[in-house]
Amino acid sequence: MKCVDDFRLRFGKQELVPIVIGGMGVDISTADLALEAARLGGIGHISDAMLPTVTDRRYDTDFVKDKLQQYKYNLDNPNKSAVKFDLGQVAEATRLHVSHAMEAKRGEGMIFINCMEKLTMNAPRETLAVRLRSALDAGIDGITLAAGLHLGSFALIEDHPRFRDAKLGIIVSSLRALQLFLRKNARTNRLPDYIVVEGPLAGGHLGFGMDWAKYDLRTIVNEIHQYLQTEHLDIPLIPAGGIFTGSDAVSFLEEGAAAVQVATRFTVAHECGLPRDVMQEYFKAGEDDIVVNTISPTGYPMRMLKNTPAIGSGIRPGCESYGYLLDASGNCAYIDAYNREVAAHPGAKNISVMDKTCLCTHMRNYKCWTCGHYTYRLKDTTRRLPDGSYQVLSAEHIFHDYQFSTDNKIALPD
Ligand SMILES: Cc1cc2nc3c(=O)[nH]c(=O)nc-3n(C[C@H](O)[C@H](O)[C@H](O)COP(=O)(O)O)c2cc1C
Repeated sequence: MKCVDDFRLRFGKQELVPIVIGGMGVDISTADLALEAARLGGIGHISDAMLPTVTDRRYDTDFVKDKLQQYKYNLDNPNKSAVKFDLGQVAEATRLHVSHAMEAKRGEGMIFINCMEKLTMNAPRETLAVRLRSALDAGIDGITLAAGLHLGSFALIEDHPRFRDAKLGIIVSSLRALQLFLRKNARTNRLPDYIVVEGPLAGGHLGFGMDWAKYDLRTIVNEIHQYLQTEHLDIPLIPAGGIFTGSDAVSFLEEGAAAVQVATRFTVAHECGLPRDVMQEYFKAGEDDIVVNTISPTGYPMRMLKNTPAIGSGIRPGCESYGYLLDASGNCAYIDAYNREVAAHPGAKNISVMDKTCLCTHMRNYKCWTCGHYTYRLKDTTRRLPDGSYQVLSAEHIFHDYQFSTDNKIALPD
């Protein structure tokens, strides 16, 4: 019986353990988690979501304070179009986060950065270009373009000296999205180095509508695989979403996948950025406690725990401090929903907003408990401690379980 370790992900001459830990913003997939994946010979992702606030927390910068100071006058203004990012600060935050991770890297694996197009930051093209270019400047091994179609993203960096040496990949959830990308991108004469195919059971935002349950990862992967073969395109395919055991991974690798991308199992690793009490919520969750809803202002459905504090929260929009979801005209669906509720409840001290959430503030504060479909199985991956809580695992333990387990078994910690 085969295990994941019988396979290798090949990039040219380089061979890696075919396990990729997916990006999880905001700083849920920490540098420490990505470093473990690289040390163990696989690929780990850091995330580029909201890096100025991440570096404030980790490296004592004052980016959020500076921004708030500059735009404090606008706090009560429902119009947020004046709130802009200082591109120099975005570049500096990216450089800090990426270079610290790359300098600490040990082992044969790689560290990639997950970059979400949907972080439009009130100036989509300019801010995305700065984020991508700064990550390349700081030595990142690769960039995974996520959450969006990314039709123009390669072009934003095609004059960068590392455009052809860094690994560049995209996440898609359908053959159609891939075809669109390849058609639009043909001009840059550079194919993606890998394609992550994310199915409907993943965590975070979904590349599907609310009819996500109709779709199946294996069917989409097979469709894309066939298309690539017909087109004679030799690009590694990396399925993601609901691959919970080493045996699940092997079943994809045997069908021609180059690696698998996984995340949910690592949300309960010591190295993961979630606070310890939130990890316990993930462990405790039952199947009925996990919902897919439309409260994300991005317009994509998102999977999360039903008791996530972000649901129904009516906090004031945090755009003067954050503002990552402001579109090119300075709008965000949460601002509209919030203003509607404020107008409907004049004089109320606290309001509740049910249909949208202030995703920036809540993700930043670990109050939006996004998770994968199989989160309810996490309790089966560990032991219960005498106080009733669940034992948090090491990333190494989880990685090795994926790498070496057979027969759908999950190794419990010592
Ligand atoms: C807590 C959490 C946060 C996530 N955040 C992101 C993100 O910021 N960007 C992204 O592209 N994918 C995100 N994902 C998706 C993962 O990178 C990954 O592709 C997917 O969850 C794999 O499926 P699995 O969780 O069932 O293993 C997130 C997943 C989880 C569980």
